[in-house]
Amino acid sequence: MVLDELDVPIVQAPMGGGPSTVALAVAVGEAGALGFLAGGYLTTEAMRAEIRALHGRTERPFGVNVFVPDAGASDPAALEAYLRRLSGVAEHYGVALGEPHHSDEDWSAKLEVLGEERPAVASFTFGCPPPEAIAALRARGISVWVTVTGPDEARIAAAAGADALVVQGVEAGGHQASFEDSDRDGLGLLALLRLIAAETDVPLIGAGGVGDGAALAAVLAAGALAAQVGTAFMLAPEAGTHPAHRARLGTNAPTGLTRAWSGRQARGIVNAFQAEHSADAPRAYPQVHHATSPLRVAARERGNAEAFNLWAGQAQGLAVARPAAETVRLFAAEARQAAEAATARLGVGHPCPNASPQSSARGQGELHPSGRARTASSSRADQPDS
Ligand SMILES: Cc1cc2nc3c(=O)[nH]c(=O)nc-3n(C[C@H](O)[C@H](O)[C@H](O)COP(=O)(O)O)c2cc1C
Repeated sequence: MVLDELDVPIVQAPMGGGPSTVALAVAVGEAGALGFLAGGYLTTEAMRAEIRALHGRTERPFGVNVFVPDAGASDPAALEAYLRRLSGVAEHYGVALGEPHHSDEDWSAKLEVLGEERPAVASFTFGCPPPEAIAALRARGISVWVTVTGPDEARIAAAAGADALVVQGVEAGGHQASFEDSDRDGLGLLALLRLIAAETDVPLIGAGGVGDGAALAAVLAAGALAAQVGTAFMLAPEAGTHPAHRARLGTNAPTGLTRAWSGRQARGIVNAFQAEHSADAPRAYPQVHHATSPLRVAARERGNAEAFNLWAGQAQGLAVARPAAETVRLFAAEARQAAEAATARLGVGHPCPNASPQSSARGQGELHPSGRARTASSSRADQPDS
């Protein structure tokens, strides 16, 4: 089980579009946590090259993330109207909008590359791969993780054979990994972990707003076997975060959910473009992503942080510039301290007068690592190897 091999129960989040690098995954992995590569947005061959480069630089296990293809625009007229509005902005930057095409991101070819290059973990976002694809990867010794944002998605992923679920709260930076983009109220990470732990024995990894070791301890206490951490690594020297993006992190700037950049809900620091266009942006991923691409490239080239996406989680104010390995070590130490403080606080309360070793949780069923009593009916027969 990959998660059991970690010295520190931290999984570095895959962060497509720049922040994820081979160097970041090496640094996190060598520090005893799990490094990750972001295969989304990369060509299949670029993804293969990154996996090989990482295999060449570390013996530690690591993961690779891939996007499951999305259905695309639900309202072509709304997409057209939005693109008309954006064409003026593009003109201002001296570029034309990109072709708002649909693509499956080379889905089948990427699955093949994962099977051939064999990272320890393959994780999936925006949907659940078909059971046959999951089985094929598992047969090659690869643990398959699926990111979920609700109990309904957790049920689907568990039934499809996922080895672990990355439980992503609404606090998370970047795209919401929902199987279907919707306007429903996102659930916070602690509520989500407890709701999903009540339904499944599949190991859980909690993602979203984990900005220090105390938050890591909270996620573990809520039943996750590890926390997935993104924004807290974005100021690391090993990350590929753009300098103008770095300048906005670790500040009190608010974040918000928006479809303005990609046509899918994602959380970023609110800048001028996001403030102006979020209300009109349609549900149309990946068409809007492709259309705004030249605009974002031009804004990055000019270092104009008002006109490209500044993905960040709600705890971005806690982000600090330091080597990734230091963040891993610091979070581990802080988490131990927070857990000890919590235990001490619980210990000095008013003990239940009837408590005795005989009336402990064992009487009603053993306590599962998820923090709830395990009963015969809730045990999964084929406990997966993750
Ligand atoms: C800049 C950035 C890029 C991201 N890109 C991806 C991605 O390519 N694939 C993915 O599954 N999640 C992606 N995410 C979401 C993360 O996997 C994770 O859910 C999130 O970072 C956790 O919240 P936090 O940023 O508050 O730690 C991204 C997040 C950020 C901040």
